[in-house]
This record gives sequence, C-alpha cells and structure tokens, in this order.
Amino acid sequence: MRCLFTSRLRSVMHRGKRTGPEMVNTAKPTRKRCKRAVKEEETTDVSPLSTYHMFHDAADAELLRSQLLSWYDQEKRKLPWRTLAVTEPDLNIRTYGVWVSEIMLQQTQVATVIDYYNKWMKRWPTVEDLAAATLEEVNQMWAGLGYYSRGKRLHEGAQKVVSELQGQMPRTANNLLKQLPGVGRYTAAAISSIALGQVTGAVDGNVIRVLCRMRAIGADSTSPAVTDTLWNLANTLVDPERPGDFNQAMMELGARVCTPKGPLCSQCPVQSHCHSYNKVKQEKNSRKLFGKLDIKPPSVPDIEDCMTGGTCPLCPSEPWDEELGVQNFPRKPAKKPPRVERTLTCVVIRSGEEDEYLLTQRPNKGLLAGLWEFPSLLQEEKSSEVKQKKALCAEISRISGMHLTDDLMQLVGEVVHIFSHIHQTYVVHSVRLKDGDAQTQCGNTQWLTRSALEEAAVSTGVKKILKRCDSVDRQKEQKSNDGKMKKHGSTKNRQNLGTSKKPRLDAADSSRQLSLSSFFRTVKKEC
Ligand code: ADE
Repeated sequence: MRCLFTSRLRSVMHRGKRTGPEMVNTAKPTRKRCKRAVKEEETTDVSPLSTYHMFHDAADAELLRSQLLSWYDQEKRKLPWRTLAVTEPDLNIRTYGVWVSEIMLQQTQVATVIDYYNKWMKRWPTVEDLAAATLEEVNQMWAGLGYYSRGKRLHEGAQKVVSELQGQMPRTANNLLKQLPGVGRYTAAAISSIALGQVTGAVDGNVIRVLCRMRAIGADSTSPAVTDTLWNLANTLVDPERPGDFNQAMMELGARVCTPKGPLCSQCPVQSHCHSYNKVKQEKNSRKLFGKLDIKPPSVPDIEDCMTGGTCPLCPSEPWDEELGVQNFPRKPAKKPPRVERTLTCVVIRSGEEDEYLLTQRPNKGLLAGLWEFPSLLQEEKSSEVKQKKALCAEISRISGMHLTDDLMQLVGEVVHIFSHIHQTYVVHSVRLKDGDAQTQCGNTQWLTRSALEEAAVSTGVKKILKRCDSVDRQKEQKSNDGKMKKHGSTKNRQNLGTSKKPRLDAADSSRQLSLSSFFRTVKKEC
C-alpha cells in the first residue's frame, strides 16, 4: 500500500496533545456538524497531503454517525449501566455507576460483568456506600472477576471522593483522569461521555480495531503515531449530541460485528466507509476479472490508496495478506510469552462438625493483593514428591505454627491457571487433620468452612484447585465403589482426598493413606 502522508501526521500528533478528552467540550453543542468536521481539517493542517487515513469529508463523517447510531438504536444490548446512564437523574450516582461499569469492563467480558455489576450496585448504590465498605468486602465482591487491583482502586477512589471532594464525583474527563486512581484516558473519556454527555471520543480495544480497519491503519497500533491518530479520529467522529451513545455504538460494533476474528462485514452498518472492506472487495473483483482471462492480477495501487511511497507511519510495514482480508488490520507487536511458574499448594482440611479449610492472606501489594489462598510456595526447580511435601510442611509451619509431617499429605494433581502474563501451574497436595490437631490461628491465616470459602475473597485459581480436589474425590469414591462391587461389598479402599464430607481419613489414620498414584495402582490390582 503506497502512502502520501508525512507532515500532516506531525500536525495531527501535536493536535493530539491538545485535543485529548480533557480538552473537549462539555457544553450542549448546537447542531453544526458539517462545519465542525470541516473545521477539524482547516485548523489542523496546512499541508496538502493524503487524507486517506482521516475523515476529511464532513458529510461523510455525518453520514457515518447517523448510520452507526441508527444501527445502535436498533441493535444495542440492554445493559444495566446503560439503563442507569439514561434513567438516573442524580449526576453523582450516574457518574459513579458508569465509573463502576467501566472499571469492571476493563479486561472483562460484558456477559461476565453484568451479574457482578448488579450485585455491586445493589450493595453499594452510591459512592458514599462504597467508601464505607472495607477492602475485604470489596475483594469478596470482586472474587472471580480477575485483575483484583481494579476493585481496590475503585474503593480507594470512592474514599477519596468522600474525604477530599466532598462526595462529589469529578465532572469532566480531565478531572476524572487526574483525581481517580485506576482511571486512564479511555476510562475518563468513556465515563464523561456516557454519564455526563461530554463530547469526546473514547478509544478502547474495540474502537482501535474498528478505526484501524475503517481507515486502513496497519502500523503497530500501540505506537504513539497510531494512538494519537486514533484519538483524533475518534474526536472528529464523535456525535456532538449523543457522545455517550456514539462511543458505545463504536464499542458495540467492535464487539459484535467488527470482531477480531470472523468479522461480519455483510452486517456492518458503516461498511461503505471501510477502506479495508473496499480493498477486499476490489481484490475479489480483480481476481474474478483476471481469473477469467487466466492472468495474474497486477498489483496496481488504487487511486484511493495512501500515496506516501512507503514512508507513512500509519501504513502497515508488512505486505497485505489476502487470506486475512480485513483482519490485516490492526497490527499489534508480538506479545511477550507469559512467564511460566509452578506453585506448590496444599489444601489443609480440619475435620470437625463441619470441615474447615486453612487459608492465608496474600500481601497487600502485587498479584492478587490481599486475597486469600491455600498455603503456597513458588517451586523454584522441579523436585520429588517427598521434597514438595516437606517444603509445604515447612511453609505451613511458618505461617500457622502447625507442625505437620509430609507422610500425611497426598498429591492431588496439577491445576493450570493462566493470568495475563503468567502461565501458572499449581501442584496441589492435600491433608486432612483432626480438629484437635489444628487449633492454631495466626495473624495472616484463617479457617473457613466450605460455604464461607465459596463466598470469600479468593481468586479463580483457588476455586479451580478446590474443584479439582472435589473431582479427584469423586473419582476415588467411584473407583472405590466399583472395587467394592467386584469384591462383593468389601469396604476396602474407601479413602478419599478429604474434600468431600464422607468417607474421610484423619491424620490419625495416616498409616493407611495412599498417594494418588498408588491408590489407583491398588484399585487396578484389585480389579
Ligand atoms: N466496554 C467498555 N465500556 C462499555 C460499554 N459502556 N458498553 C459495552 N461495552 C463496553
């Protein structure tokens, strides 16, 4: 793709600094759309260069707005934060509610967020309510949503609003950005446009994809040149009368039509504005034509292409891949592979009237800050099962003061959990103790019943570990029952790992305990 685009970008990039969300208008705009779009062009550019990556025609921009908004009005999903944004008369509650939704929606799918959002808003309907909660309650509510620092920041932000801002949520993108922890450029723009009607574009991952495809921007989408251009495009396009709806329509389009894989171009309401789609269409036509003549289609640049002769900072550096079609855009730099970690972890169960599990709290900073987990230890290098058990015993003793011996432990198996940047394998062991053996309770540990554990501030990793223990228990029980049937009612081998209630094995019976592998060997032998 050739390109005619040099100093124009420089002027756009400078403008980008001044036209971020913080600079945009909050006043109710008058309907001067054509003039507005023309003005963007007039005031920002003195060079006569290609406008290929821009929206240079005001009428075209206006048409796009109306097509997109009509589609949104018909197709939008009914989401609780959208309902709140149009029905809640109190500006403070509206801003707070949209803030909560935008933080939850960072890195989490809409479908997952809905339930969490409804529960959250029921429990803490105002910023004052959230400020009065404890971090433990917030973490508990957030459990399972991932990226736990988000909940903590919301809580910190609410306390700041109450203690430093007289309970008043910031009223502009600029102030949201400056005053609320965890609120960046996109989030500030989204909150201010959706809750406050501020006329600003908002560029999230979905919008990046839509704009890059529409304007054939194929350079690294995380580069400053592309980022600034995308924000300028979004600010040029945003509807001055319905900025919140326009931004949500762009997100909705990216989430449901202009998807990363398998985009539904035939259903796209703004197809005619899309350079990528047009390029794919032209290529198809040319293949048809030249195919009939049995000639390879020549690679002739279209008159509409960018014409800067290979120096455009927005054009892809790699050649167009026919197979990918519109998915040639956007381009991201290759992701760093996730760090690979193995963590030894032990599910310690204390038998009593009701089984209880030993949990320990993670430090207040870093990954999964403040959450509760089973006693765990990073496995620096591969080690034998016995060494793993000894290491876990030492760790349990360090955190709880309880002295266990490794022969009480059973290996459950491995559980994999993928964080954004870590490929984590939990090597899970379990041990069941008698009530009297485990009275200790240290500062950073607690014993929780199964139902309390299910409600506690624990990560998805902990839930997966527990599920794995349950499933191994069930398998063992099943094998044991099968064995019994074959043995005509023999009660041998009715042991389990101890996470299900019955039957169970106490530390006192440890001489009869088997490792998982020897258990299966035994069952097999018996069969
Ligand atoms: N993602 C981020 N904000 C959103 C919103 N308001 N609606 C749908 N998806 C979103």
